[in-house]
Amino acid sequence: MKAKNSKKTITDSTVDQDVLTYTVGEDTILDKALIKWDCMGTAAHVTMLSEIKGLKRPIVTKKESALVRKELARVVSLAEKGAFTIREDDQDVHMAVERALTERLGDLGKKIHTGRSRNDQVAVDVRLHIKSEILSLEKELCALSAALCSFGAKAGAVPLVGRTHLQPAMPSTVEMWATGHAEMVLDQLENFEAAYRLADLNPLGSAAGYGVPLPLDRSRTTELLGFSRTIHNCFGASMARGECEASFLSALAQLMCVLSRLAEDMIIFSMPEFAYFRLPREYCTGSSIMPQKYNPDVLELVRGKTAQVVGWQTAALTLLHAMPGGYNRDLQDAKLLYMKGLETVRTTLRILAKLVAGMTVDADACRAAFSPGVFATDVALRKVAAGVPWRDAYHDVRDHLEMLESEDADAAVKAKSHEGTCLGIDLGIYLKRISDATASAEKRLDALEGCCRKLLR
Ligand code: ARG
Repeated sequence: MKAKNSKKTITDSTVDQDVLTYTVGEDTILDKALIKWDCMGTAAHVTMLSEIKGLKRPIVTKKESALVRKELARVVSLAEKGAFTIREDDQDVHMAVERALTERLGDLGKKIHTGRSRNDQVAVDVRLHIKSEILSLEKELCALSAALCSFGAKAGAVPLVGRTHLQPAMPSTVEMWATGHAEMVLDQLENFEAAYRLADLNPLGSAAGYGVPLPLDRSRTTELLGFSRTIHNCFGASMARGECEASFLSALAQLMCVLSRLAEDMIIFSMPEFAYFRLPREYCTGSSIMPQKYNPDVLELVRGKTAQVVGWQTAALTLLHAMPGGYNRDLQDAKLLYMKGLETVRTTLRILAKLVAGMTVDADACRAAFSPGVFATDVALRKVAAGVPWRDAYHDVRDHLEMLESEDADAAVKAKSHEGTCLGIDLGIYLKRISDATASAEKRLDALEGCCRKLLR
C-alpha cells in the first residue's frame, strides 16, 4: 500500500503531518504550564510597543494595547479553568495565543508579534515559569526541613548509634540525625537561589537573537516583567536559552541526591534488624505473596527517581554542549527535561515530608543498639583527661578492646555539648532559617504575581 502523503498548513509553512507531530512533540501538553507566562510576556511586549515614541505610525496604540491585555487576561482565566486548548496545528503556546487573539481582535491580534520571535517568547516564558516554580519549591523544601526538625525535636536526646562506614562509631542522638538531614536539605536553597538569579534575567527584545530595526525599549519590559536586569547582548540572550533550564536541573538533581540519602537512612533504620524508626504503615506497601511485609517502596522510589533527575540534568547538559550559537530546535527538549525534573522533585518533597511527619522512634531499640565499642573514643578521652597523651590513650584502648564495657548511652550523649553535637544543637537556628526563607519566597512570589496582575487587566 502506498503511504498517504498528508500535508498540514500551519502559520509558518505547509508541512508533512509526520513532521508536524515529530517537531511539536509534547509541546501541546507541556506548554499549558506556560500559558500564563506567555500572556504576561506578550502583555509586556505590547505595552512597550505602544509606548515607542517618534514613529510615523505607532505599531500599536495605547488603546489597542489595553484591548490586547484584556484579551490576554481572558486567555489566562480560560486556561485556569482548563478551557484553553493548544492544538497540534498551533505547534505551541505562542501560536495558540496569537490565534486566540486574532480570532477575537482581528488585525490587532496579527500585530502583537511585531519585533519579536517565538525564541524570544519561549525564553521569557521559561524564565518566568522557572522563577515562580523555584520559589514554590523553596517553600516545599522548607516544609520538609521543618518536618525533620520537629521529628528531631520530638525525639530530643534519645541516643542513637552514630555510624561511619555503616559500622557503629560514636554516641549520637535521633535529633542530631534528623536536624543534620534538615540542614542538608536547607543548604540546597543556595543552589536554587543561584538558579533563580540566573533565571531572573530578561532575554526579551532579542527577537530571533539579533535584534530588529525598531527602537525596542528592552529595559521597559525588564521592569514590567519584574526581572532583575536585561541580558544585554541579543545573541547572548538567545544562547542563554537552555542554560537556565540546565542550572535549574542541576539544583534539582543535587537536591534529589540529598533526599535519596535521607531515604536510604530511613530504609536502613526502619529495617526490622535495626527498628530504630517505624514508618507509618499507610506509607508502606505489602507483598502479593508474603503477608508479613511492609515495604518502604516510597523511599526506594526516591532513590530510583534520583537516577532519573540526574539523567535529565545530564541530558540537558549534553543537549547544550555542542550546540552552535543562535536558536536551534533541540532547545525545545530542555523544556521537557526541566519540567519532568520539577514535577518529580515536587512530589518527592511532599511525600517525604509526610513520611517524616508520620515516622516514630523506638527509643528502647535505639538504646539497645549501643555496643561497648561505641564508647571506645569516650574511654580514650577519659584517659586523656587523666593526663595520658592522646595517641597512647588510643593504643591503650585499641589493644584492650575486650575490656570495654557497656555504658549509659544517655550519659554519654549528655557529655557531648559543644556546638552542633548531641546537646549542642540549636534548633532555633533552623527554625529561623526556615521562616526567613519561606517569607522571602512568599514575598517574591507576591511581587511576581503583582507584575502579572498589573499587566493583565
Ligand atoms: N516550541 C519551540 C521551542 O520550545 C518554540 C520556538 C520555536 N522556534 C522556532 N524557530 N522553530 O523551542
